Amino acid sequence: MLYSDLKFPKKVGRPFFYTNFVATLDGKVAVKKPGYFPIGSKTDYQTLVQLRSYADCLIHGKNLAGEFGEITLQSLNKISFKKLRRKLGKQENLPYLILTKHIGSLPKSLGANVIHPPGRIFGLAKYLYSKGYKNILVEGGPTLLGSFLKENLIDEFFLTIAPKIFGSGKDTLTLVEGVLFPPTKIKRLKLISFKQIHNEIYLRYRTI
Ligand SMILES: NC(=O)c1ccc[n+]([C@@H]2O[C@H](COP(=O)([O-])OP(=O)(O)OC[C@H]3O[C@@H](n4cnc5c(N)ncnc54)[C@H](OP(=O)(O)O)[C@@H]3O)[C@@H](O)[C@H]2O)c1
Repeated sequence: MLYSDLKFPKKVGRPFFYTNFVATLDGKVAVKKPGYFPIGSKTDYQTLVQLRSYADCLIHGKNLAGEFGEITLQSLNKISFKKLRRKLGKQENLPYLILTKHIGSLPKSLGANVIHPPGRIFGLAKYLYSKGYKNILVEGGPTLLGSFLKENLIDEFFLTIAPKIFGSGKDTLTLVEGVLFPPTKIKRLKLISFKQIHNEIYLRYRTI
């Protein structure tokens, strides 16, 4: 277990938001063509599961959910995952939300998880806090992450660097898409920890 006994600072009035990605050495988190998945190792996947186990709520953007929503639901329903959560004192079922502004654009099997937040993400953050969610894992993708970052609503980044280079092209995505921060609003972070497992590096950063 890479992150046993993980603790997050408490926020007042909104949840603490953290995210988890795996990127290649050249900063790519996805290629919208077959053959590039998975980017990370088995340990990276186990870390994703572990980071989910600490969350009070899990959020995906519409595109990520379109690709992996059904697999995510299966994974959250596994007995081993529920057991892991019980051990951490969490409720067995991890609430899973999918954000989209468009009704009916995802398979029916995911319908119960879909929400259409009106207005800014900050309103959603306040609503989720009122439901008692203290620590929320925003798994992306990069466009959704951009929506949260625009409103300064990502507090921590867990990032695996995979020893691969994909190169670039119009089908490649980096960690954040859809927004360019002006020089005065560049996001700055401090390093909380780094761990090496074989040829991968596991980084944990907190926003300043
Ligand atoms: N390497 C990694 O660790 C990693 C992690 C996550 C994802 N990924 C990859 O990233 C790709 C998906 O990323 P993506 O950037 O294309 O899409 P995405 O972020 O998953 O989804 C974008 C969509 O989410 C909805 N959305 C975003 N912000 C919103 C807001 N503020 N309010 C309501 N809805 C909002 C919008 O849906 P509507 O247009 O319907 O409104 C938007 O088009 C996948 O290929 C996935 O495999 C990789």
